[in-house]
Amino acid sequence: MTDAASPRDPLDALVDGVTIVELDPDETSVGRGSLPNADGVVQLDACCMDGPRRRAGGVAALEGIAAAARVALRVLRDTPHHLLAGQGAQDFAIARGFTVGELMTPKSRGLWIEWRRRLDVRLAAAAGRPADRFEIGYSVGREMSREGLIDANHLWGTINCNAVGPRGEICGVTTTSGLAWKMPGRVGDSPILGAGLYVRQDVGAAGATGRGESTLYNLSSFAIVDAIRRGAHPKDAGMAALRQIVDDTIHPALINARGEPNFNVKFCIVNAAGESAGVALYGGDAVRYAVCTEHGAELRVCDALLTGAM
Ligand code: GLY
Repeated sequence: MTDAASPRDPLDALVDGVTIVELDPDETSVGRGSLPNADGVVQLDACCMDGPRRRAGGVAALEGIAAAARVALRVLRDTPHHLLAGQGAQDFAIARGFTVGELMTPKSRGLWIEWRRRLDVRLAAAAGRPADRFEIGYSVGREMSREGLIDANHLWGTINCNAVGPRGEICGVTTTSGLAWKMPGRVGDSPILGAGLYVRQDVGAAGATGRGESTLYNLSSFAIVDAIRRGAHPKDAGMAALRQIVDDTIHPALINARGEPNFNVKFCIVNAAGESAGVALYGGDAVRYAVCTEHGAELRVCDALLTGAM
């Protein structure tokens, strides 16, 4: 990540890394080609935190610009603020040289059209109870994920990436298109400091993927880093945050037949010593996190809190 003559900021490397995925049109969880909101508009959320400089930047409900994490980094570096939203975020990005374009691809448009078709059938059967519209939309999304039409990890698809640099610099970035088919204007946990990402220099970093409302409610990433500050290992800190989410998930639309969450949440965690953990409500071979050390990169299966199907 560095050369002796010009050390590279680890946060630039993180943002460059997630930008590759944001610009990949085949990837449906972030950036171009990601799953849109209920109106068929892609709205992106992202933030980043720079531990040594105690600075943060984020964007929420950003439209038309795939590289949301890069815009968040510009907010961090070029403004005294932590979060820009909606049209203001887009105007800021345009002023910084980003170009606006269509983020839907034939693949993401096709999935949205199929979701709308199923939603219309279900709404007709529900005899127009408007309050149920987004609950029904959510259950149609879960149905499409169970049928393999969309990756279960992409229903709330998100990337979180954290680093401890060679000089102990701790930083992190989280980027997402948020909950698939979300209510227009809905902002999830990803751009909210303490929920979808938290970094504390000399302590550690944590970030979340999965159902954002659950980590927003608990400020889970902050809770994890604060538990590390008080001496917890990253895995134990992450498991405690997951247990809190289970305790707080009581809405009937969000629990399965066992009374447990019907969604997944995953945390990627690293402490200042470089010890890492990936923990999730529900595990399995496909629920993994990547670790890169001086020995190279590897994928590891997350430790899971719950057993059985979502
Ligand atoms: N974790 C992404 C979201 O809920 O928006």
